[in-house]
Amino acid sequence: MKFRFQLSLLSVCALLITLYGYGQASSSRPHLQKQGTATQLIVDGKPFLALTGELGNNTATSLENMQAVWPKLLSGNLNAALVAISWAQTEPTEGKYDFALVDGLIKDARRNNLRIVFLWFGSWKNGLSSYAPVWVKLDYKRFPRIRLQGGRTMELLSTFGDATRDADARAYSALMRHMKEVDGEQHTVLMMQVENEVGVLRDSRDRSARANAAFAAPVPKELMHYLQQHKNSLVPELRDVWAAQGFKTSGSWEEVFGPGKPESMEMPIQTKTPPMSLEEHEISWRQLHWPVDEIFMAWNYARYVNTIVEEGKKEYDIPVYVNAWLQQPNHAWPGTYPSGGPVPQVHDIWRAGAPAVDILAPDLYLEYFDEVAARFTRNGNPLFIPETSTNGSNVLSAFGKFNAIAFSPFFIERSAAADTDLAGAYALVSQLSPVITAQQGKGTMTAVRMNQGDAQAEVKLGDYTLTLTYIGNGRVPIAPEPPTKSAPGKQSTPAASPKVAPAPDQDLAPPLQAAAILISTGPDEFYFGAVGGAIRIDFAPNTSGPKIVGLGDVQQGKFVDGQWRVIRQLGGDDTGQGEILTVRPNAPIRVTLYRYE
Ligand code: DGJ
Repeated sequence: MKFRFQLSLLSVCALLITLYGYGQASSSRPHLQKQGTATQLIVDGKPFLALTGELGNNTATSLENMQAVWPKLLSGNLNAALVAISWAQTEPTEGKYDFALVDGLIKDARRNNLRIVFLWFGSWKNGLSSYAPVWVKLDYKRFPRIRLQGGRTMELLSTFGDATRDADARAYSALMRHMKEVDGEQHTVLMMQVENEVGVLRDSRDRSARANAAFAAPVPKELMHYLQQHKNSLVPELRDVWAAQGFKTSGSWEEVFGPGKPESMEMPIQTKTPPMSLEEHEISWRQLHWPVDEIFMAWNYARYVNTIVEEGKKEYDIPVYVNAWLQQPNHAWPGTYPSGGPVPQVHDIWRAGAPAVDILAPDLYLEYFDEVAARFTRNGNPLFIPETSTNGSNVLSAFGKFNAIAFSPFFIERSAAADTDLAGAYALVSQLSPVITAQQGKGTMTAVRMNQGDAQAEVKLGDYTLTLTYIGNGRVPIAPEPPTKSAPGKQSTPAASPKVAPAPDQDLAPPLQAAAILISTGPDEFYFGAVGGAIRIDFAPNTSGPKIVGLGDVQQGKFVDGQWRVIRQLGGDDTGQGEILTVRPNAPIRVTLYRYE
């Protein structure tokens, strides 16, 4: 009896030790964690804001070519790089893997104190299959390509090739096994992107015999089940498509989601020419056309990618995202952009088909930055922007307003340098990162962008209403000029503000833009940062008590090792003799407020 008891005590202890060990390992590798409404990337126990950039597709194909790149990334204040590795280079001969490049990149990143997100260019890159190994491309019977309308084919592997999926998954999981061996302790590699901008090009869906058979068959039960379970939280664009067919709970794809693209229609390269009017172009990129074709492809890409991600995570479980080539005003029809990728209207399909994928990410070159960011953060999807431009205001918007995990301009080695808009914005976010990460997801932080000539913007934050006035590079008035109250055109974030009509000679010049990140850290304490130009902030209390607000401590500074370090204590001319708070670009500010009457 006693022996038995000792045995079971021993096994409980062993179990606890194993669980503890597992907990340790799983919490120390990079992982995602919720904080309020936000999701954070946790690296070595702390939230990590990835201030990064994506290298050109082939920049990291040799260590030699990277030597001149690392210092540029550092001069641009990056803390990580998005680096492509290809299936072709990793498995040049079937079953023979070569990880020398991956190892070298990890070592060189460490030497430069940078982290990496690897992009796996496997079966697809920009829809096509150019980075698949030659042994895959040659064996077109075993690894089938898609068929377009009329039976033509192209260099685009079909999602209906199970052998292709399995071969891709084998290579990817070998990579992840290796990654764990070389980086399981140090965590230089933060995350993985699997494939790149997947989807069918030049037609709205795959029309191979297997694809056609699947299209005519009933919608898979798992998908129907998911849609019914999430009926009330589906993105409205998808819900509307389903609603139009009466929320059918079974049937063929066309029965459940409506008719596909007509047989007779050849997909143009762009949707630029008629039949779309200018107005239609403006709205066309926000909705699906022949939704069933895209939904069908989204499901099939999601299932395929999910297998690869699952196999990889069995080896080394770090966060994974997939990226979307977005619809554009001139490329609004499926097939003019890759049909079936994770565009916002089909996020629910991707969630249903690829639960192993953590994040659906936009390649965000559109000018409608905030609108797209908002659509990519519905239903708790974290914002990770793997490709974009170098706009500093967008950096503040991404991290301040949308709790982004990463911001990453494309072909970063061309633009990364000191004294750039991007480098300034990255420095600012990094200098404020302890308060940014502490406030993410709590409703205590936002960002506002302002163009020259904009009306004032009003933001409620903490216990105050903040009124923001664009100063740009102009002189800040020395005498206090209270902001014009409640002008009809007053901007209230996030709505776009009306503009003051430009003088005729300004017509062609783009308006100067400034942006501010606004962080409330206590009842009477704020941190602010600006890029692009100065912004004046006035305060009005939202709680009962004295109504006049005074500036207490006004400090320019930055966080160093988690501690706020004051660089200049501000008063006199810098604060309009204590009555005006001006947030100047690239100079984080901490301010405390007091009230009197
Ligand atoms: C988007 C792709 O994902 C990138 O790899 C690159 O090809 C860019 N487009 C080019 O602009």
